[in-house]
Amino acid sequence: MTDRTPAELTEEEAATELERLASEIARHDRLYNTEDAPEITDADYDALRRRNTEIEVAFPSLIRPDSPSQKVGGAPASGFGKITHRLPMLSLDNAFSATDFDEFCARARRFLGLKDVPMAIVAEPKIDGLSISLTYEKGRLVYGATRGDGAEGEDVTTNLRTIKDVPTRLKGAAPDRIEIRGEVFMTKADFLALNEAQSGAGLRSYANPRNSAAGSLRQLDPKITAARALSMFAYAFGEASETPAPTHWEYLEKLAKWGFKVSPLNERLDQDGAAGFHTAMAERRASLPYDIDGVVYKIDDLALQRRLGFVGRTPRWATAWKFPAERATTLLEDIKIQVGRTGSLTPVAWLQGVNVGGVLVTRATLHNEDEITRKDVRVGDTVELQRAGDVIPQVIGPVLDKRPKSAEPFAFPDHCPACGSLAVRAEGEVVRRCTGGLICPAQTIERLVHFVSRPAFDIEHLGEQTVRAFHTDGLVDSPADIFRLPEHEQEIAEREGWGATSAANLMRSIESRRAISLPRFIYALGIRRIGDANAKLLARHYGTLAHWREQMVAATIIGSEERQALGSIMRVGGAIADELVGFFAEPRNLAVLDDLAGQLNVQEEKATTDGPLSGKSIVFTGTLTTMTRPEAKARAESLGARVTDSVSKKTDLVVLGTDAGSKAKKAAELGVTTVDEAGWRDIAGLE
Ligand code: IVH
Repeated sequence: MTDRTPAELTEEEAATELERLASEIARHDRLYNTEDAPEITDADYDALRRRNTEIEVAFPSLIRPDSPSQKVGGAPASGFGKITHRLPMLSLDNAFSATDFDEFCARARRFLGLKDVPMAIVAEPKIDGLSISLTYEKGRLVYGATRGDGAEGEDVTTNLRTIKDVPTRLKGAAPDRIEIRGEVFMTKADFLALNEAQSGAGLRSYANPRNSAAGSLRQLDPKITAARALSMFAYAFGEASETPAPTHWEYLEKLAKWGFKVSPLNERLDQDGAAGFHTAMAERRASLPYDIDGVVYKIDDLALQRRLGFVGRTPRWATAWKFPAERATTLLEDIKIQVGRTGSLTPVAWLQGVNVGGVLVTRATLHNEDEITRKDVRVGDTVELQRAGDVIPQVIGPVLDKRPKSAEPFAFPDHCPACGSLAVRAEGEVVRRCTGGLICPAQTIERLVHFVSRPAFDIEHLGEQTVRAFHTDGLVDSPADIFRLPEHEQEIAEREGWGATSAANLMRSIESRRAISLPRFIYALGIRRIGDANAKLLARHYGTLAHWREQMVAATIIGSEERQALGSIMRVGGAIADELVGFFAEPRNLAVLDDLAGQLNVQEEKATTDGPLSGKSIVFTGTLTTMTRPEAKARAESLGARVTDSVSKKTDLVVLGTDAGSKAKKAAELGVTTVDEAGWRDIAGLE
């Protein structure tokens, strides 16, 4: 290997060296992975890979298709490739006070049926960066991804390899396959230096260290990422071929041995000590070299973590106790009304830009009409704002002694600002809605924007501005029109600011999304109250688009069996079922749905249909001795079952604890299958 830095190489020399590195690294991979006969030390191997990355960073145009950096996925011409997380990357529930934190501990104890036994908790400063996942096979980094929407992230392997805290090989023994999770962040000093350099070069500066870390990692050109000072702390694991340790604390120790940086501030404590840790961190916060926005608490014992499992998108075994929100005051310049895709009128505060906890805030939500009246905020007021973590900034209220004499109470419009239709408030509702439905351009555009957004169809190169412009020019009106855009490729290429390449990129991303999962499809429709969780629930239950459509249409008949079934699937009650029924009762919606179905390949959702209990209805009765009732219920639900209270003909299984009474009798009468607790543990796959 040459000693010269990549910058000293000519293009020709760089190309030659990259060619040599590609074949040399491939040879060492083979020796290591398939022949178990490595010829060089890990350190020498790392040096080869690093050299490869460094040269690629200096000469991105020379990156070879067979380069070791391109092994998995490999970024397509535009944007990043997608990586589906083998285990979803979830988020944490928040606590905002000592009471919330105590409640978190109490809930976990209740769930586990633990009373007075000590329960160790690991406390970790909550770094304000972006979470990433790194997959290692046989100790080698094979790919790395951003969190994305939790289910699917972006393949940023090449960029991650340029970060010094990301080992390309793990030191010592490690599971065959393990996904390490952690936070990539930028220190406060590096953030300031970066912004200075950016503005010196006439480039935009970043709002805060978190944004700058995210912006730096998501650069298409790895050279830019490499030039940015990014750090990483490791703190969790995703999928692993074996459990890496018996406790989280020991896992953290392993991480350090493997070569990761682990926060030196982490501590293993009892419940009281854990609460004290929060106070201590709040005091140290300002003097730490990086931003933290709270403390993450994790129950130490991994076996207990497994039993606790998840509820929705958050684990029961961890919580984030946030620091109090940051506040500031500024001038309320105007209140504008935004029309959402379901016609809701939302008042938005237009503010004189102000820095709140490191973020420049110019807009804040005012929630709804009643909020404005309750707080009596008026245009021209100086208002107090607060911002907590990722939450949208909120207006707390006016500073009354600064109110100008001319300030008038705000009159909420009773007509839609976008289409002029009447805007009404249904009884008992706080939100005023435009009645313009399909004729309201704001709703059409918001629906389209939602349709192409990341958690929905995720169509790149089709942002809000483009959707708006295409709509104005009559290119898209219904969501299905998006899939007809390829017929207009030429016309789009000729639009101002486009050109053949951009148009082709857009067409490529549209084509790549013609195959879509059922939950995404349902979510994309933008039916009120059908967020991603409910979309998943529906998709899992109905399996295919055709079946869902058929059942929903049948459910529009009040009192039908399908309508009742819908109520029990959605559990949360009638409001959601009403929205679905309302959607399917409108023939124009069905027409759009069918138009879309004709252009797409909506995939069948299998997820839980192959679980041992999927679609089954279970009743627990009597006392269970090895687990609490909530734990049993959660377990059953995670295996796809529905847990109900009473036994009927439709019940598939009754689990009999000790002292099971009338329900056991009823099960016997109806001939419903019963099992005892041991039988249940067997079915649930518990040893
Ligand atoms: S654990 C299942 N530990 O906070 C939860 N997260 O709100 C796994 N974060 O997305 C996350 N420091 O980006 C964990 N020590 C820490 C963390 C941490 C920061 C971030 C992370 C996550 C978010 C959760």
